[in-house]
Amino acid sequence: MSDKKKVFSGIQPTGDIHIGNYLGALRNWVKLQDTYDAIYCVVDLHAITVPYDPVALRRSRLNTAKLLLAVGVDPSRSLLYFQSQVPQHAELSWMLSTITSLGALNRMTQFKEKADKAGKNLGLFAYPVLMAADILVHKAHAVPVGDDQTQHLELARDLAERFNSRFGDEFPVPEQITPEIGARVMSLKNPTSKMSKSDEDVNTRVLLLDEPDIIRKRFKAAVTDSESEVRYDQEKKPGVSNLLDILSLFTTRSIEDLVAEYHETPYGHFKMTVAEAVVEGLSPVRSAFKAFDDEEVTRIMVKGALDARTRAEGEMASVRKKLGFDARLGDGA
Ligand code: TYM
Repeated sequence: MSDKKKVFSGIQPTGDIHIGNYLGALRNWVKLQDTYDAIYCVVDLHAITVPYDPVALRRSRLNTAKLLLAVGVDPSRSLLYFQSQVPQHAELSWMLSTITSLGALNRMTQFKEKADKAGKNLGLFAYPVLMAADILVHKAHAVPVGDDQTQHLELARDLAERFNSRFGDEFPVPEQITPEIGARVMSLKNPTSKMSKSDEDVNTRVLLLDEPDIIRKRFKAAVTDSESEVRYDQEKKPGVSNLLDILSLFTTRSIEDLVAEYHETPYGHFKMTVAEAVVEGLSPVRSAFKAFDDEEVTRIMVKGALDARTRAEGEMASVRKKLGFDARLGDGA
């Protein structure tokens, strides 16, 4: 096993993956493969905390895996698997739940938002504990996510510290890795809310697999403001600033540079410039996605799950021992 530090992250297979997921998290997943021991997971156990259709889930988890491969997650450099195929996640989640305060879970804003829409269940309430277990079961040092996951990650850090102080040093306290630009890509129709998989209005987001004409349509309909100057001001001009962020990320040009070039460009024209940059940036992802077949992806995921189980089992031995359980069946005591 390598001496590199470990990075872990996960993505839910619910809804379609959009440019917010890509710019806020997945681009970093791909980048970090070179410098870290990278472990990535399609978190299908998290997906069943809201009402869902098992047939649709089967399809969407495979498509999510395929899309991760298409954006550049490379199974020869990263471990990639489905969470449900590695039972140590659920085992550690239970253990961590016994040191999690109800108060901490009650403060989770994502629980409140989701419970309002989907109804309350224990799994949804305990969602952040399973997320902490995902990270800690691999003793990860860092977690690349968008900034909507900050509160969840704080709980993971808190649980690592709490476990270590109560039972002895076991878990590194994981750092959050969030990009400077793109940590919170906003909705195209309501730029004071984040772009979200679950928004009922499809015009709010651009999906990684959207066809070029759809992408153009989405940007054409994007909300700007009543002025006519392209300039960066997240408070007064959230729509235009969001478009500048997106353009900057897809062209790797600085915001200053873009503002200098486009500040007098009419909004309609500017929006089409952004659309073309996104069409071009996503075109390799679309082709790579089409080139993978289901069987090949399934094979990659099975291999990933077997490796992840072996690794997680190795990590869990000392956790179990600290809690007073045998490391292995037949060990005595
Ligand atoms: P999920 O599936 O909602 O989103 C996947 C990743 O995309 C980021 N993201 C965004 N980034 C920028 N702008 C946006 N508008 C935007 N929307 C989403 C998210 O921050 C995330 O990084 N709870 C997690 C999944 C999870 C996980 C984990 C993550 C489960 N266990 C352990 C890290 C570590 C979630 O629902 O992400």
